[in-house]
Amino acid sequence: MIAKPTGTAARLIAAIDTGDLARAEALAASLAGRCGLLKVGLELFCAAGPPAVDAVARHAPVFLDVKLHDIPNTVAGAIRSLLPLRPAMVTLHAAGGAAMIAAARAEAERAGAERPLLLAVTVLTSIDAATLAATGVAALPSDQVLRLARLAVAAGADGLVCSPQEVALLRAALGPAVALVVPGVRPAGSVSDDQARTATPAEAVAAGADWIVLGRPITAAPDPAATAAAIAATLPP
Ligand code: C5P
Repeated sequence: MIAKPTGTAARLIAAIDTGDLARAEALAASLAGRCGLLKVGLELFCAAGPPAVDAVARHAPVFLDVKLHDIPNTVAGAIRSLLPLRPAMVTLHAAGGAAMIAAARAEAERAGAERPLLLAVTVLTSIDAATLAATGVAALPSDQVLRLARLAVAAGADGLVCSPQEVALLRAALGPAVALVVPGVRPAGSVSDDQARTATPAEAVAAGADWIVLGRPITAAPDPAATAAAIAATLPP
């Protein structure tokens, strides 16, 4: 299992969000050594599949953000299929329930000490209170996040993907061991793109993030490697 990061660059996860495998490989090569991990998300995985993970993994450990959500037997099968790719982290939806998460964990254990961290997604940050209510969940989003986070960790998740707004709440509620991976961060002074509620990388780490995920601020920069290094330099030691 990947250890919690020591040092600043190790905290960075750059999201390689492209459907173009050649561009993904070029980005991964340029960012090798500047980030702790590289994220392969649904855009790249749906376009290029397992070879994309292999290509990116030649440069850095992979955060495979596939957000699995299905019946326990199917999610266990998906984990079994992903293990040969040796991802360092895999995501799944906490809303799939305790049995689904436990099945994923049991399957992941088959990889022994090399198993991926299982990170649960609680309430997507694109979901506000009204959208949550329309799905039949009357709770406040923050209450639902905490409920699902506790459920996921109790069922065997190693950590959570959460927004900068949730990181202090989850760290306080769940303690120091749980892994918190935080997207939706923006360097001071940069454009927010479509991220509505952002924090700076340093703020997210100060609030309790172990790793922070950045996509466009790094990948759309003229010099992604230099930009990643500059962001790492803003982090607390
Ligand atoms: O380009 P940007 O920095 O906004 O990319 C952030 C990455 O984190 C994207 O890959 C996006 O899918 C992911 N993400 C997010 N917000 C979440 C969960 C994941 O931005 N709540």
